[in-house]
Amino acid sequence: MENRSLVTIAEYSKEKILYLLEMAKQFEKNSNRKILDGKVVATLFFEPSTRTRLSFETAVNRLGGRIIGFSDAATTSSSKGESLKDTIMMVSNYADLIVMRHYLEGAARYASEIAPVPIINAGDGANQHPSQTMLDLYTIYQTQGTLENLNIFLVGDLKYGRTVHSLIMAMRHFNPTFHFVAPEELKMPEEYKIYCRQHNIKYTEHTDFTEEVIANADILYMTRVQRERFTDLMEYERVKDVYILHNKMLENTRPNLRILHPLPRVNEIAYDVDNNEKAYYFQQARNGLFARQAIICDVLGITLDQIKE
Ligand code: CP
Repeated sequence: MENRSLVTIAEYSKEKILYLLEMAKQFEKNSNRKILDGKVVATLFFEPSTRTRLSFETAVNRLGGRIIGFSDAATTSSSKGESLKDTIMMVSNYADLIVMRHYLEGAARYASEIAPVPIINAGDGANQHPSQTMLDLYTIYQTQGTLENLNIFLVGDLKYGRTVHSLIMAMRHFNPTFHFVAPEELKMPEEYKIYCRQHNIKYTEHTDFTEEVIANADILYMTRVQRERFTDLMEYERVKDVYILHNKMLENTRPNLRILHPLPRVNEIAYDVDNNEKAYYFQQARNGLFARQAIICDVLGITLDQIKE
């Protein structure tokens, strides 16, 4: 049987991405449809989450499916030493689909290779977060009217931020220019810069985060410094507040600029930005519901024709 898992966005063609965005649009028109009747979806979260887990679970509930799972692995038999393999094999006995977040890079790939049911990667360490990317793409299209030829600024923790890694890969189809804004300690890893060069993706790098630097931005994608990935907490303390976006920095930015953030934010966007019409991160999180409904349907083999009203 074809493995329909979503492990990395790199596996999605341009056509597939556009197809899923159209599906998400249908779900934004109406997210309550009983098309998962009789289906059980497991959400296995080995790392904390608010948006990803709750939006996946809302997605299933609104489509008439049932949810099992856990949000704290300490309450499961993995705390007794049960392996990831055994956990996945057990849950596959109960569920039609597994949505999994894990702290180990590659955990979702491994799960997808052993599980008899599809796996959706809800974040694996600092590696990938493909469902976040689908909602990011949906939001970028919604705010810009296109995905093509945009100036996208990625700001903050580009080393450990899995959302920015996935976004780069997805945008390879749309001729973006990326601007990586990060301190030396949190620079975009070399492997993603190599990926950009291999796919003719233009990029520049900056260590300053100023009005002048962001003047031509269409999308300003802010990220949190990922404390949980640091082995040296002194280093985290040094860089945690390195960039903070304030409202006054937005005065001379492009009218079409929208500020995105995968959330949660800590200090990197000042609260005075929230009322600026260019702030779009809460709408972005809302779009997670529609994008994830599209992904769930797709991995379960439900087509766009079947959901069109
Ligand atoms: N954006 C995101 O993954 O948020 P959560 O960690 O709250 O799921």
